[in-house]
Amino acid sequence: MSERVERSPSAAGGTAVGVPAGLALARTRSELAAERARLVGRVAVVMTMGALHEGHATLFRRAREQCDRVIATIFLNPLQFGPHEDLAKYPRTFDADLRLCTREGVDVVFAPSPDVVYPDGDPGIVVSAGRLGTVLEGASRPGHFDGVLTVVAKLLHLTRPDAAYFGQKDAQQLLLIRRMVRDLDFGIDVVGVPTVREADGLAMSSRNAYLTALDREVALTLPQALHTGVVHAAEGASAVRRAARDVLVREPLCRADYLVLAHPDTLDDVPEWYRGEALLAVAARVGTTRLIDNVLVMVGQENDVDGVGAF
Ligand code: PAJ
Repeated sequence: MSERVERSPSAAGGTAVGVPAGLALARTRSELAAERARLVGRVAVVMTMGALHEGHATLFRRAREQCDRVIATIFLNPLQFGPHEDLAKYPRTFDADLRLCTREGVDVVFAPSPDVVYPDGDPGIVVSAGRLGTVLEGASRPGHFDGVLTVVAKLLHLTRPDAAYFGQKDAQQLLLIRRMVRDLDFGIDVVGVPTVREADGLAMSSRNAYLTALDREVALTLPQALHTGVVHAAEGASAVRRAARDVLVREPLCRADYLVLAHPDTLDDVPEWYRGEALLAVAARVGTTRLIDNVLVMVGQENDVDGVGAF
């Protein structure tokens, strides 16, 4: 997308510089409201923190296929980062992000600054993720999911979509958003999109940009562990866990945080007698980077293992 214009083509988004033609960029609530008012038909939202890659592009594409109009949000939400996390160094590639949005047929990008989203500073009232927000990722990242749900709730109110698209890559986040939308009657459809992987099986993530060449090799341990677990699905829950864990512990440079085989709705460990769908999820530190990955596995039967790459 080489053509650049001084102004967004839409009358309401008139202050943007360097916005690709055909894309409306809204920076403020009033710009978003004006752009939203022109969207007719079924409207989708895809929320992101920027540093967009093929995983995000797949969400845009799925939204585009199923809805008439697509709003993308690009907002690096400070509320979901802990004090010692990577907010300051999180990759920022805004111009490339806008080009990717244009290429994927996004109609409106809402890219507010923190003071637009949080005009009074940290909000006094937040959404509580409850017990499901305290396990797995929530155990390592206290308050993370309250921050995620609070911004997702705000962005849903601001963009007023019919449907919202989220990646299975962040399985716990997707589950919590589904629960929030149901428990608090948001009245929108939440659509989950399967994890998009690199050719070698590594789940795409903005944080992969942090990996050194060695880290990048070591990071493959995560999908390899998941893949090996899935291969043992027919033997039952402990065989899946054991097989996956064996792969993880064989790589000392991959420092596992957790590896679980959990019920997809409760995130409780599934018992040995369990049969049916379960979430095999892993988190690990590779170098200075914390990575997560997961796969849905049918326990008690042979599975198609293509979903986590072939090793
Ligand atoms: P971010 O990490 O930018 O991810 C935005 C969306 O893209 C999420 O729904 C995420 O699950 C999805 N995604 C990321 N990598 C993916 C992959 N490899 N395959 C499929 N989908 C993928 O998740 C967030 O931002 C934030 O927490 C957010 C929901 C925007 C709230 O701030």
